[in-house]
Amino acid sequence: MPAITNIQDLKDLHERRVPRMFYDYAESGSWTEQTFRENISDFQKLRLRQKVAVNMTGRSTASKMIGQDVSMPVALAPVGSTGMQHADGEILAAQAAEKFGVPFTLSTMSICSIEDVAEHTTKPFWFQLYAMRDKAFVARIIQRAKDAKCSALVLTLDLQILGQRHKDIKNGLTIPIKPTLPNLIDLATKWRWIAAMAKTKRRSFGNIVGHIDGISDMTSLSIWAAESFDPALDWDEVKKIKDMWDGPLILKGILDAEDAKKAVNVGADAIIVSNHGGRQLDGALSSIQALPSILDAVGDKIEVHMDGGIRSGQDVLKALALGAKGTYIGRAFIHGLGAMGQEGVSKALEVIHKELDTTMALCGETNVNQLGRHNLLIPEDFEGRWQKS
Ligand code: GLV
Repeated sequence: MPAITNIQDLKDLHERRVPRMFYDYAESGSWTEQTFRENISDFQKLRLRQKVAVNMTGRSTASKMIGQDVSMPVALAPVGSTGMQHADGEILAAQAAEKFGVPFTLSTMSICSIEDVAEHTTKPFWFQLYAMRDKAFVARIIQRAKDAKCSALVLTLDLQILGQRHKDIKNGLTIPIKPTLPNLIDLATKWRWIAAMAKTKRRSFGNIVGHIDGISDMTSLSIWAAESFDPALDWDEVKKIKDMWDGPLILKGILDAEDAKKAVNVGADAIIVSNHGGRQLDGALSSIQALPSILDAVGDKIEVHMDGGIRSGQDVLKALALGAKGTYIGRAFIHGLGAMGQEGVSKALEVIHKELDTTMALCGETNVNQLGRHNLLIPEDFEGRWQKS
């Protein structure tokens, strides 16, 4: 096997080793995928300022996210169905994150349950919540996250209704996979994935199955989301969830300065500037492009994190230099997981850490907390010139 030197190498292996429908599920955006693509390409518009003859010894990428120590400000984002990318995927990713000293966020729509991940880890992880119509289920799952000693709740605000991803429909995405001819042909080349899956019992949505009544079809995320997610979620409901949780709260999916102010008013501890990896409102701004205006609006009042488009340590550095206090990787770690299980997630974290550390040095910085706009060349029109509405 050729040496793995970057996230693209892991992505190539992920594509070769994981059934097409799950690779496609990860590697897609909604509709035209404009926002999905621009999440990545807009990072390239920001340029780095090279500084030389600066003592670069004693560097540190250690920081804090919501007051918790991190070895670098890069958390693992919640990703639905992670345990379909590799058997026991959530447990393996959580263990890799724990070893590396970065937060792991477990999705509501995970395969391994909250209790299962807690049992197989030693440090607290974060739990991501979707608001559901079934309020008793929400109360129960919040209590389960408390019992598992989760150290933050990440409430997702941008997916009460699912953006259409064409590939999922065309592939007939279901969990478990239905034995159709195209699926069987695809699976015939995925022996590594099958062998690992054959050894685990974790093959359905562990947080849901057995914990909620009246599920008509749990095999399809899109049908289930349409039936169960609460389309009535509003800021009053966010406040209720905050009170119920009564711990560190991160609001995920903020892309607009006015919404960021509402997040401050509701008393959240942090927001994640995010468009759900380009999987929801196609045509929305990329996260990195939306970040500056949100920082201008609330950067001194709340911790601002971002996700979307990060595939390298240079991307992390750019987000931090703009002013984000934390970043998240979703696909970048999923590529590692699909490629090589826990070792692959560790590899993804190592790759990003090394890129961040070296790039920081070449920018003349030794401490990740000292990065700032002085490290960047920002095009004058980076944020776009939009008419006032
Ligand atoms: C769920 O979070 C998804 O984006 O598919």
